[in-house]
Amino acid sequence: MEHDETLVVHSIGQLVTLDAARGDMLGIVPNATLVARGGVITDILGEGEGIDWDALPHDVTEIDANGAAVVPGFVDCHTHLAWLGNRREEYLQRAHGASYEEIAAAGGGIRATIEHTGRGTPEKIAHAMAGRLATMLASGTTTVEVKSGYGGTLEGEEKQLQAVRLVMEDSDRLQPECIATFLPLHGAVPDPGERSQWIHEVITEGLPRMRKHATFVDVFCEEGAFSPEECMDVLGKANEQGYHCKVHAEQRTHSGGSMVAAYCHATSADHLDHATGRDAEALRASGVVGVLLPGASLILDGPPPPGRMLMEHGLEIALATDCNPGTCYAESMPLMMSLAVAYAGLTPEAALRAATLGGAHALRLQDRGMIAPGMRADILVLSASSWIDLGYHMGASLVQLIVQNGRIIPRGLTHVI
Ligand code: NIG
Ligand code: FE
Repeated sequence: MEHDETLVVHSIGQLVTLDAARGDMLGIVPNATLVARGGVITDILGEGEGIDWDALPHDVTEIDANGAAVVPGFVDCHTHLAWLGNRREEYLQRAHGASYEEIAAAGGGIRATIEHTGRGTPEKIAHAMAGRLATMLASGTTTVEVKSGYGGTLEGEEKQLQAVRLVMEDSDRLQPECIATFLPLHGAVPDPGERSQWIHEVITEGLPRMRKHATFVDVFCEEGAFSPEECMDVLGKANEQGYHCKVHAEQRTHSGGSMVAAYCHATSADHLDHATGRDAEALRASGVVGVLLPGASLILDGPPPPGRMLMEHGLEIALATDCNPGTCYAESMPLMMSLAVAYAGLTPEAALRAATLGGAHALRLQDRGMIAPGMRADILVLSASSWIDLGYHMGASLVQLIVQNGRIIPRGLTHVI
């Protein structure tokens, strides 16, 4: 969405740039002014630095932040948004004592969502996604990764990825930008005799066919899902075809996904609830980003993601919602920040970085997650004078104004779906 509008946001009490060039993790500029043109940040002015209004066009849009804190738009780098149907009965069953695995073994879980989604059209899936995306945008998320994985067949997988494309092509709709991931090894684990057939189909037909839709390929490496060897077969071929890779690793058990991610030079290893120090070391040595999904860990009754341990090993950390109908139906990144601090051992500073710049790195996006000249103008004006309130004030919506790609998202319009 290109445009030539000029935007000036002034009277920012605290501009949280996340720009390490400013000296520390958050790179805070007090009493700041920000200028963006054509969707790109051009200038950041600190206290006492006057703005040269003569150099700007007459029709500039001016926002008075009135002393509020401003942060980058959130980058939610792990979601399963393209689903149909719901699993609220499972939510009740789990609350009454059934485990996620018991429900899956009885035909519920991911398989139930595959049945609903597989029957839908790309248009229906896109419509369902758009509602969720609207909620995400309203809580400050300006970029969202969306996985397939509920297709059941290659046709089904493609329908989900087509839905992502349909949503993105609707330029009248204000929504986060979506990045698509092909997740062929997820939950529809075929019978043993058919497993190698499915993997063969994914490699020979699925990967070339989905290349036009997806940037990433993801695999669920888990007992009861797919083995490290099966995951490596698919990711090795995905690398050869120019995809970047992701791995659902060590979510329910210590299943070897981290080593798969390190070996395949994946962009990220996600979940990591059962990761060890050795895993962390291997991931760091391969430059893999660790994506924490504390909402899913909490719902599945832990253990919490070992955020502090992973950081101590020098891993780059990202934070995401994992928004899906089974393990975490949540759209809010500030809620994930609260959980990351209270439950996964991150400092508030690390949680904010993980929700913005870390997420951008987990999607290999160099143009966002930070507020600096040359970056996309995706910014959030808070209804608080300090960024700390984002996680500290739990469950509240402190995002007062959203600017995406240099455009102000009108209030109220985010809920029109
Ligand atoms: O990230 N781990 C696998 N997939 C999802 C769960 C999906 C579902 O239950 O529908 C997750 O937690
Ligand atoms: Fe997931």
